[in-house]
Amino acid sequence: MTKLILNTDCPKETIDKNIYGHFSEHLGRCIYGGLYVGEDSDIPNQEGMRLDVIEALRRMRIPVLRWPGGCFADEYHWEDGIGPKESRPCMVNTHWGGVTEDNSFGTHEFLRFCELIGAEPYINGNLGSGTVREMQQWVEYMTFDGISPMANKRRENGREEPWKIRYFGIGNENWGCGGSMRPEYYADEYRRYATYVRNFSGNKIYRIACGPNTDDYHWTEVLMSRAANMMDGLTLHYYTVPGPWRKKTHALGFSEQEWYETMRKTQYMDTLITRHSKIMDQYDPERRVGLLVDEWGMWHLCEEGTNPGFLFQQNSLRDALVAGINLNIFNRHCERVRMANIAQLVNVLQAVILTEGEKMILTPTYHVFCMYSDHQDAKRLEAELQGAPTAQDMEAVTVSASIKDGKVLVTFCNLDLKEEAPVEIDLRGGRFTRGEAQVLTADAMDEHNTFEEPERLVPRELKVEMGETGCKVVLPPKSVVALHIW
Ligand code: AHR
Repeated sequence: MTKLILNTDCPKETIDKNIYGHFSEHLGRCIYGGLYVGEDSDIPNQEGMRLDVIEALRRMRIPVLRWPGGCFADEYHWEDGIGPKESRPCMVNTHWGGVTEDNSFGTHEFLRFCELIGAEPYINGNLGSGTVREMQQWVEYMTFDGISPMANKRRENGREEPWKIRYFGIGNENWGCGGSMRPEYYADEYRRYATYVRNFSGNKIYRIACGPNTDDYHWTEVLMSRAANMMDGLTLHYYTVPGPWRKKTHALGFSEQEWYETMRKTQYMDTLITRHSKIMDQYDPERRVGLLVDEWGMWHLCEEGTNPGFLFQQNSLRDALVAGINLNIFNRHCERVRMANIAQLVNVLQAVILTEGEKMILTPTYHVFCMYSDHQDAKRLEAELQGAPTAQDMEAVTVSASIKDGKVLVTFCNLDLKEEAPVEIDLRGGRFTRGEAQVLTADAMDEHNTFEEPERLVPRELKVEMGETGCKVVLPPKSVVALHIW
C-alpha cells in the first residue's frame, strides 16, 4: 500500500495561480474560428468572441493568457492590428501555413477577450524583427493615461482608459524563430529593449526574458549572469514529443510502449526545472526572478486532412495524464515556477477546447485543468509518497498537494496502464471529516471526446474512505484523480 503523509499545519509557498495559464497564438484556428468569429457570424458571440468558449474558459478559471505568439510574435507589428478593421493591413503568416492574416483580431480585441474570460493578459513583444521604438510605443499605447501621441491614438480607437498590463515578454524563442541569436547577443538586445519597456501611469510591468529551449543550460547561465537584474521572469519551453528523436507521432491509436515513452518524456520536465533552477539560484538566491514555462504540452502529428501548418491535433486520456503530471511538477516547484502556459488554448496542439463551425468540445486536458483549479493560489504541502509503485522503471504515481481555507487538495496521476494504486493518506495537524474525489479514466488509453460524442471522457466520482486520522482512495490504472478533504 502506498502511503502519503500530509502535515496540513505546515503550509509552504503559494502555488501561483498563473501556473494554470494558457497561450493563444495567431496559428491555425486558435484565434480565428477558435476564439473569434467576428460580429457578423451566426455563431453566438459577443463583439465577435465566441460565447461558448468564453463560458467554458470562465468555468475553468483561466488566470492568464499569452498572446500573440509564439513565433508569430516576432513578426507581428501591433500597429497593423488597431483602428478601423477595414483599413488594417494584411500580412502573410509565414510561420503558420503561409495564410493571409487580416489583423481583425488585434490589441483591443485581445484585451477585451481577457476581460470577458476574467484572465490577465500576457503580451509578447517583437524583438526579432521589430524596433525598440515600436515596442516602447505599444506599451505606451496600452498603459499611458496622460496626453501623448500613443495614448491619444488609443482614445481615437475607442478606448479612453488605459489598460493594466502586467506581463510583457521581450521576444520569443530568440534562439530560433525569434532571430536565431546567440545567448550573448540576445542578452544584450534584451537589456536594450527592456530599458524602454516603461512603467507608465502607475502600471508596473513584469518584464519577461526569452529563456532556454529544453536543456540549453548555457542559455540560462548567460541570461542570468548578464541580465537577471533587468528581468522579472525567464521562460522555458519544453514539449512532450513521444517518438524517437523528437519525431511526431499520431495523437490516437498509439502503442503501450509509446504511452510509457510519453510518460517518461513528460517526467523529464522535473529534471529540466531542477537544473535550470539551480543555475538561477546562483545568480538570484532570493528567487526574485520567476521561471515561466510559457510553452508546454504534447506535440503530435496533425490530424489527417488538416493543414500541416495549423497544428490541429486530437486530445486523449494520454494528453490528460501529460497535463496532470506536468501540473504536479509545476506545483512542486512553485518556489521558482511562477507561471506556465500550455500550448495552446483552442484548436492548436494540446488544446483544452476544439471547435468545428458552431460545435465545440472540451478535451480531457480541459477537465484536468478544472479538477486541479483549487491549487490556484493555495499553499503547497510537502507530499512525498512512501512505497510508491513503479512502472517500466518510472514512478507510476505522481502527486502534489495544497491547502486553502482549511481545504486540502491532493492530485494524483497513476500512469500504469494495468495496475490500480491504493493510497492511504495520513492527515496530520488538523481534523478532517469529509472527502470527495473525481477521477478521469477510461478503458481505452486513447479515449477522447468527439463532436458527435462530446462526453465520452469526463470526470466521474471516485470513492473516498474516510477514517479517524486520514482517508484512502484507490487510483484506477491510467487515471488522473483530484481529492478534496476538509
Ligand atoms: O506553439 C507553437 C510554436 O512552438 C510557437 O509558436 C513557438 O514559440 C514554439 O516553437
